[in-house]
Amino acid sequence: MRFSILLIIIFSGAVTNAAYSGDITAIIINGSIIGGLQSPPSTWTPAIVQGAQYLAALKSNHGSLAFQQLAVSHAAHNTLARVFHGTRNYASTDKSLKSILSLIGHDPTSDEEAARFAISRMADYGINYFVDYVYGPLNTGVYQATPGGSPLPDTPQAQFVKLFASVGDVTQFSLSPPPDPAKAGYQGYLLYGKDEGEANSTVRKSHDSDTAYFWRESSPTMAGAVIGETLATNVLASTKFFAQLNFALANGGIVAWHVKFQSLNWRPVTTIQRTDIWLSAGLNVSDPAWAPLLSPTPSHPDYPSTHATFSGAGSAVMSRATAYNNGSDDVSVTVSSNVTLNNRGVITRTYTSLTEAAIENGDSRVFGGMHFPFSSGAGITLGNAVALKTTVNFDEH
Ligand SMILES: *[C@@H]1O[C@H](CO)[C@@H](O)[C@H](O)[C@H]1NC(C)=O
Ligand SMILES: *[C@@H]1O[C@H](CO)[C@@H](O)[C@H](O)[C@H]1NC(C)=O
Ligand SMILES: *[C@@H]1O[C@H](CO)[C@@H](O)[C@H](O)[C@H]1NC(C)=O
Ligand SMILES: *[C@@H]1O[C@H](CO)[C@@H](O)[C@H](O)[C@H]1NC(C)=O
Ligand SMILES: *[C@@H]1O[C@H](CO)[C@@H](O)[C@H](O)[C@H]1NC(C)=O
Repeated sequence: MRFSILLIIIFSGAVTNAAYSGDITAIIINGSIIGGLQSPPSTWTPAIVQGAQYLAALKSNHGSLAFQQLAVSHAAHNTLARVFHGTRNYASTDKSLKSILSLIGHDPTSDEEAARFAISRMADYGINYFVDYVYGPLNTGVYQATPGGSPLPDTPQAQFVKLFASVGDVTQFSLSPPPDPAKAGYQGYLLYGKDEGEANSTVRKSHDSDTAYFWRESSPTMAGAVIGETLATNVLASTKFFAQLNFALANGGIVAWHVKFQSLNWRPVTTIQRTDIWLSAGLNVSDPAWAPLLSPTPSHPDYPSTHATFSGAGSAVMSRATAYNNGSDDVSVTVSSNVTLNNRGVITRTYTSLTEAAIENGDSRVFGGMHFPFSSGAGITLGNAVALKTTVNFDEH
């Protein structure tokens, strides 16, 4: 399920830098190592791996640069092998480590301890819990299965999943409920989402269609462009940064999923394909043939957008990190993506602020026809709050 993986924003770099800068996120989510993951594990797994790398960096900090790089690379390799029990594309995981070893030019020594610790912590994280999810009634506003999606939604067990960095219970984070479909203002949100998000919309600007495609596919390369090689020779700072980033993203995902299953908000496609008249103004907005630009709509409730939550969390960590940006939101980054979906081709974007990129990432899901506009702003707000708590806790422990 490639689409759900790549919703992670603003990440780090290419495979080779990855080893040097302690970041293995790109190779995990890129699918080149483990062939892709669905949304919640797509941030959860990198967080475990990055946590192990940070531990390995702390332990190896007095060694040479090459020794430190080797230690974190082994920690990443061993953690990945353990997360997937050596059963999932282990050959490419090994190959990736092998290519790094020759670059570092050092005899391999393994760092099993960090991997073992990270994995033992993972055992009790609750992601394997089963929740017997039952769809709610076919009332206005209530989430339903969406066309082309899974019969059951992703991660209804989010409420049981422990947050990284000992942040505490998911319920400490909340959002006000989504707007009420019975209220007058709802028509505006709905018509905007219907017109801007339709597959063959005649009102959506070409730039906005590109926005939907760009953020669907190119997210992992964003951070490579943003972080670049700034942390390449400081293994400890680098692994700390990427651990914080991925802890915040994973926590953002867990919390967003929890709120999704509290609010159970319907998706635009469900709303628009209904044939009854339910808006308070009496307008018939039904279009049973309506389809979103990006299809299928992901199999989980609408509110908040996890794309937006990830972007809120990622941008908050990146601007806050002293090791990288000293609290500044400013960046100067140009990123290209060769979008394979619908043969869209190469799209190039330039950003001067992390907030700008985060907002655009949130908007992309409205242009993609998968989210109501109110779900994007909510996600960014939630992601910011989760990231702040996560990084503060990380620093204190
Ligand atoms: C993603 O994987 C492809 C091969 O599947 C590889 O060519 C590319 O460099 C990878 N990109 C990143 C950012 O890891
Ligand atoms: C609303 O419009 C849809 C699509 O044109 C139509 O199928 C449906 O019958 C209409 N609903 C009512 C109550 O008129
Ligand atoms: C959009 O338009 C194309 C070309 O006319 C057509 O093939 C496709 O079925 C349309 N898609 C939807 C969802 O209406
Ligand atoms: C952050 O600020 C400190 C103190 O002004 C400075 O020494 C350091 O170079 C800055 N780091 C970055 C990445 O801008
Ligand atoms: C983009 O990807 C397509 C499909 O893999 C490929 O045919 C095309 O050459 C690529 N374009 C660029 C500029 O890399």
